[in-house]
Amino acid sequence: LFLLVQMVLRDRVCPGAAGCQVPPGERFDCGPERLLGRAGCEARGCCYGPPGPGPGPGPGPPWCFFPRGYRSYRAENLTATATGFTARLRRVAASFLPGDVGDLRLDVAMETPTRLRFTLRDPARQRYEVPLATPRASGRAASTLYGVRVSPDPFGLLVYRQRGGRVLLNTTVAPLFFADQFLQISTSLPSRFISGLGEHLTPLVLDTTWTRVTLWNRDMAPAPQVNLYGSHPFYLGMEDDGSAHGVFLLNSNAMDVLLQPSPALTWRTTGGILDFYVFLGPDPKSVVRQYLDVVGFPFMPPYWGLGFHLCRWGYSSTDITRQVVANMTAARFPLDVQWNDLDYADAKRDFTFNKKSFKDYPEMVQDFHRRGLRYIMIVDPGISSSGPPGTYKPYDEGLKRGVFIRNATGQPLIGKVWPGPTAFPDFTNPETHEWWHDMVKDFHDQVPFDGMWIDMNEPSNFVEGSQDGCPNNSLEQPPYVPGVFGGRLQGGTICASSQQYLSSHYNLHSLYGLTQAVASHDALLRVRGKRPFVISRSTFAGHGRYAGHWTGDVGSNWEQLYYSIPEVLLFNLFGVPLVGADICGFAGDTSEELCVRWTQLGAFYPFMRNHNDHGARPQEPYAFSPAAQAAMRKALCLRYSLLPFLYTLFHRAHSAGETVARPLFLEFPKDPNTWAVDRQLMWGGGLLITPVLQPGITKVSGYFPAGTWYSLAGPVVHGRGGGTVAVAALGAEPHPAPQEPAFSTAESRGKGMALVVALTPDGFARGELFWDDGESWQTFEKGDYTEILFLATHGAVLSQLLRASAHLDGVLLEAVTVLGVTSPPRQVLANGALVGDFSYRNDTQVLRVPVSLPMWERFVITWS
Ligand SMILES: *[C@@H]1O[C@H](CO)[C@@H](O)[C@H](O)[C@H]1NC(C)=O
Ligand SMILES: *[C@@H]1O[C@H](CO)[C@@H](O)[C@H](O)[C@H]1NC(C)=O
Ligand SMILES: *[C@@H]1O[C@H](CO)[C@@H](O)[C@H](O)[C@H]1NC(C)=O
Ligand SMILES: *[C@@H]1O[C@H](CO)[C@@H](O)[C@H](O)[C@H]1NC(C)=O
Ligand SMILES: *[C@@H]1O[C@H](CO)[C@@H](O)[C@H](O)[C@H]1NC(C)=O
Repeated sequence: LFLLVQMVLRDRVCPGAAGCQVPPGERFDCGPERLLGRAGCEARGCCYGPPGPGPGPGPGPPWCFFPRGYRSYRAENLTATATGFTARLRRVAASFLPGDVGDLRLDVAMETPTRLRFTLRDPARQRYEVPLATPRASGRAASTLYGVRVSPDPFGLLVYRQRGGRVLLNTTVAPLFFADQFLQISTSLPSRFISGLGEHLTPLVLDTTWTRVTLWNRDMAPAPQVNLYGSHPFYLGMEDDGSAHGVFLLNSNAMDVLLQPSPALTWRTTGGILDFYVFLGPDPKSVVRQYLDVVGFPFMPPYWGLGFHLCRWGYSSTDITRQVVANMTAARFPLDVQWNDLDYADAKRDFTFNKKSFKDYPEMVQDFHRRGLRYIMIVDPGISSSGPPGTYKPYDEGLKRGVFIRNATGQPLIGKVWPGPTAFPDFTNPETHEWWHDMVKDFHDQVPFDGMWIDMNEPSNFVEGSQDGCPNNSLEQPPYVPGVFGGRLQGGTICASSQQYLSSHYNLHSLYGLTQAVASHDALLRVRGKRPFVISRSTFAGHGRYAGHWTGDVGSNWEQLYYSIPEVLLFNLFGVPLVGADICGFAGDTSEELCVRWTQLGAFYPFMRNHNDHGARPQEPYAFSPAAQAAMRKALCLRYSLLPFLYTLFHRAHSAGETVARPLFLEFPKDPNTWAVDRQLMWGGGLLITPVLQPGITKVSGYFPAGTWYSLAGPVVHGRGGGTVAVAALGAEPHPAPQEPAFSTAESRGKGMALVVALTPDGFARGELFWDDGESWQTFEKGDYTEILFLATHGAVLSQLLRASAHLDGVLLEAVTVLGVTSPPRQVLANGALVGDFSYRNDTQVLRVPVSLPMWERFVITWS
């Protein structure tokens, strides 16, 4: 009887369709744009039925789903091209979406042995495409790591590894849709370990049990499951054997990416074309580099940009800002860059300053420069539009030069941001770049700032759409609205149908921050003639080439402390290595313990800034008890002592597409235990940071992959196979410092260096140093730098000058600390001369050799 009921039930679920026997985890939604009842569902040729005992309310399998073999397009006329092949796709069954495109052109380009690109376009009509300059392949790569097959009807594309045949993409799993404002393609995934698809408050590894990830840049205090400030439609997937691949959808429209347990992924976007890159790795580091080959390698930050930055909203005058710097100095904290939020501006308008509270603003910045500090202030894109003509040059000039985004009647769209009514510069217009440069230059001529902090550039708007609302049209009310916060595209930003130079804002919205970053980067370079430093809240794929990112308005709580690690790691995978969260949290009151722990973790953010909200409890390092200050001071000194190492990692990112802060799985892809680790991070391949992320503890557990791990202070903490180890949290013992810390990088750069050598059990080690003047433009490209390779083997450490310049002249190597020297040496020689005062500890196996050797010459130190 039971069996019979089951059969009857099944029959009723999908009348007459054997294709409806689809396990819940493999079901693809047939009613994406609206909720369908049985009749509406079956009218589409789809299957209807509750998935059975399921997860209950909340996300889960769709009730209306495609049967197996559901037809949409058929591929015809496969023809070889210079780079791969092309095919025509013809719709073979009616579509239920408005604006369906019945004929498509598929182009598959085998661009390099590890990179495949495929696009789906409307051959009859030029549609919007993302204006990102990507490399062009002239021919078809030989001996690719991938193979491609087309399944003709229903159409699907299959990408697999040549070796072993593992399927990385199979788009046959669900029908393709290509309508004017609804483009959708689904694929199977080879595993559940996928990372990426920012920007979100998320663990490192995404959850494939019915997750919807929405991309549409939005000013939004970070919270789980909502679209945030940036869009990075790129994911990296791990495969069972530790191989990795990546997929990038070059599309800037509002989109959802849906993950489901089979596992599978659906890209659902609202415009543009489908333009995919697939990266074959085969290791995760190579995937990142291959992605960055397409979107651009990161810019090289100035050395000072890696120092400590201090900011808050509420430094209401030059007197207060000067006090902050004085208090930092008095409390003996390093500080490189002092910042101001909008407090400096006159009536919150860009490129002005308050002539009362900031009357000596230029002098303050000059004073900071004299003390070796740098200075940065906030600049928002919204340009105040309400003053009488002739009173505010940025608006007057902007109007004259036609730089603002236009509304339906062709006038500047007026929204509302901090200064009140504002117009929004259109940074896709080349004239806007010229105008922006002129404004930056005018202001810099008065206030010699060193970098720019660009905020509110999603763009954020305090009224929905504009002061005059938005028209009712298909761009404002598309047939499908992705899961954007609030459910409306105009929410918190400007009208989707407003017009920009290159296209509608509907298409360009998520590029706003990137285009402002490019304009700011270029303006700073022209105005200062040095390496630009720009930190932006809003980002898009390719952002790292021009600017860094801070993670926005995070709350002062332990949960956000944790989330900052996956955020920093993901932005490194996105090619934006200069990233950090506001230390101690931005919104709400911090606590002393949280702020200490956040400073300790923040010392390992590639971009280290403490920034606080208006009205919250003060959180400058000097605002806490002597014990807390001592802990923070130590964390800051540790960072400063490691800056030559950090700078070298940035050089590797800039010149070779590497990451700076790195998830463990990048270094240990063959160890699946590392894949989801996101409570620890690495700097490069050698330094593993295991921070405290909870209150009330002094020991912290972390995962240590197989190998030998030393504490920076010396002794081995783990020297076997992979495992979880509890270690003492940052304590009071001194660390051997690669460089003597100082109160600013200007000071520390001239100080002596030290080398910490962590030996493998076989006695090997390798490291390198990149050094230049720290701020000139394109030193690497022009060859104006020093590069030293350090090697340790068989009882010796030596240096090799790969390239020499004068920048290291006068800098001495003052100490060499070798970790893991298993027996006490009898004698130590430096360049052949006896070193009398070396020390060795049997318990820690640490050898310390004081030396005084020119860094700019090669050296050999031996022990026996
Ligand atoms: C495929 O090629 C045939 C013969 O050349 C042609 O008639 C047909 O229109 C082509 N199909 C498409 C979709 O271009
Ligand atoms: C691709 O997916 C289709 C539809 O689910 C399936 O029938 C086919 O076997 C898959 N191909 C491979 C090689 O996995
Ligand atoms: C600087 O320190 C002094 C003395 O402790 C204190 O009164 C003042 O409020 C501090 N200023 C700021 C801006 O933190
Ligand atoms: C466009 O903006 C102008 C202000 O620049 C406003 O007067 C006009 O009403 C707006 N047009 C529409 C259609 O909203
Ligand atoms: C927009 O226009 C459509 C069709 O003309 C109409 O159905 C809808 O109610 C309008 N929406 C709003 C918000 O006015």
